[in-house]
Amino acid sequence: MKRIAVLTSGGDAPGMNAAIRAVVRTGLDKGFEVFGVRHGFAGLIAGSFVPLGARDVGGIMQRGGTILGSARSAEFRTEPGQAKAIRQLKQSGIEGLVVIGGNGSQTGSHALAEAGFPVVGVASTIDNDLCGSEITIGVDTALNIALETIDRLKVTASSHQRAFIVETMGRGSGYLALMAGIAGGAEAVVIPEFEVGPEQVAAEIRRAYDRGKPHAIVVVAEGAKWNAEALAHYVSEHEARLGFALRVTIIGYMQRGGAPTFQDRMLATRFGAAAVEQMAAGNYGVLVGLSRGEIISTPLSEVVGRVKPIDPALFELARVLSK
Ligand code: F6P
Repeated sequence: MKRIAVLTSGGDAPGMNAAIRAVVRTGLDKGFEVFGVRHGFAGLIAGSFVPLGARDVGGIMQRGGTILGSARSAEFRTEPGQAKAIRQLKQSGIEGLVVIGGNGSQTGSHALAEAGFPVVGVASTIDNDLCGSEITIGVDTALNIALETIDRLKVTASSHQRAFIVETMGRGSGYLALMAGIAGGAEAVVIPEFEVGPEQVAAEIRRAYDRGKPHAIVVVAEGAKWNAEALAHYVSEHEARLGFALRVTIIGYMQRGGAPTFQDRMLATRFGAAAVEQMAAGNYGVLVGLSRGEIISTPLSEVVGRVKPIDPALFELARVLSK
């Protein structure tokens, strides 16, 4: 193998650039020529490849986003799209591909691996909902951004004895909301994995005031049935009976745009280097991830289509500590 390529796909995650840098420099160290693919799988189909040298990835580690660009490609989900991508890679003499991304992206990696193309995945998504890694690139930064928001809201909430809903990202997973809720000292956490209704949330807010708290903070996940919009609507309709109003802050994409923390830079750097090592060793069709602090590789067939569970003990911890 002489030429490899790297792409970033799906939602960008702070630390992707550090992973690209590690792929490029480890690849060069092993004697590979390294190419970047612009805009994820869409760029693969279009054959949008750029040669990357050591200097091209200088000064990017501290930047959020991805210098290669990312995309969610509908065409790549089709067999003709995948076949076209493989043709493009082969025409450019590229023999191996590193895919930095989350669930959807690694489903794409798996499809390429099934078609016989050498691919190694790198676990990257702020949602931390990818099997095969206990933590993924971008989670730490996204959580720190959520915590800063919660800390700030607590200050103003306390001044006015107000109740706030803070919505984190997480389309299908409540990991970000739960962890931010625990570390941010929330009065209640609402996530898709555990059913919590609006009356329960209202009861928690009332209990917070009854205990003499100057504020009530409810952290909700974007993907929860009772997300910020739904809860705020419910509370406004029942305001007179419930006895309080809710103010809403949706953190949204702010969580994706931050400069990567030390944790994310290190994780991404280790993952990127390990992905190239797996490639060089001929261990394809795997995802590089972390388990008990060690780098591991898991067959993509055991990663895709699986749901990463949320530890119910952590949900219980959030409840216990909200007193
Ligand atoms: O998967 C990461 C994520 O940020 C989710 O938390 C969120 O629901 C989704 O991406 C938003 O996706 P898009 O960038 O396609 O709007």
